[in-house]
Amino acid sequence: MDVVPMGPGFAAELRGVTLSDIARDDAAYAAARAAFEEHSVLVFRDQQVTDEIQLEFSRRFGPPEVTKVGSQGTGSHFVILSTIGPDGKVVPPDHRLVLRNRANQLWHTDSSFKRVPALTSILSARIIPAHGGETEYVSTRLAFERLDAPMRERLENSFAWHDYAHSRSQIAPDLASPEERAALPPQCWRMVWKNPANGRGAIYLASHAYAVEGMEPAAGSKLIDELMAFATAPGTSYVHQWRKGDVVMWDNRATMHRGRPWPSHEARLMVRTTISATVADGVETMRPPSSQAAE
Ligand code: OGA
Ligand code: MN
Repeated sequence: MDVVPMGPGFAAELRGVTLSDIARDDAAYAAARAAFEEHSVLVFRDQQVTDEIQLEFSRRFGPPEVTKVGSQGTGSHFVILSTIGPDGKVVPPDHRLVLRNRANQLWHTDSSFKRVPALTSILSARIIPAHGGETEYVSTRLAFERLDAPMRERLENSFAWHDYAHSRSQIAPDLASPEERAALPPQCWRMVWKNPANGRGAIYLASHAYAVEGMEPAAGSKLIDELMAFATAPGTSYVHQWRKGDVVMWDNRATMHRGRPWPSHEARLMVRTTISATVADGVETMRPPSSQAAE
């Protein structure tokens, strides 16, 4: 297995290995896991992907999420990102599926609005448009390491609130349905996720974040906006141009990502599996002290 760095200080391609090798071989898994901890985004090319292979691979990294209400694939381990309607045709540009893809085009990390946040997401390209539709990544670990020491220390001891309805409201006021709002109450997380494998911290923020605990609403949202801009500064991203057979996995603790637009008449179909963060991944260190005491 070769690890070939691809991006500006993070992101690497793993060559000479298949998803099934990693799923079935302990040494291959250990090498892939080490690359994941180090590079945060891993690219696999020319894979033979089926839902079964993707899920078997994903399970190696931890427990798979069950897809939430309101998403395509609800109740299964797959999130289906598609602009193809039930009739097999690409849906019109004002369709809910298109608006949901637009929400994915805001910088975010997956599942920070859930009771259990995500370690990693694994995304496979099934149908790709001829133009656009890339996925762009930044390292919030490298961003954290670019901050000055007082700010790093401040963030290590600060907590932010994340809400699915907040990120969706940036696209359309009612994009999050009443069922989604009821199922996904706001969550509060430490603003720095320290990776237990290497001790390196990363800014933990997303389009879902709307407030900082203990700060006035306006000041908290200004701090979030400034950190988001800092973490996504021009020149710091890796843009993945999808090819058939590509699979990309990323560390939701140490990156943000966003989808890029594509011509709305072109079909795009992606399938995601998402792995919950466990104690070994540092999830308990992310909860505010009061909630640790209460639980
Ligand atoms: C995701 C996501 C962006 C894209 O799958 O979590 O944000 O480019 N995808 O489809
Ligand atoms: Mn996402």
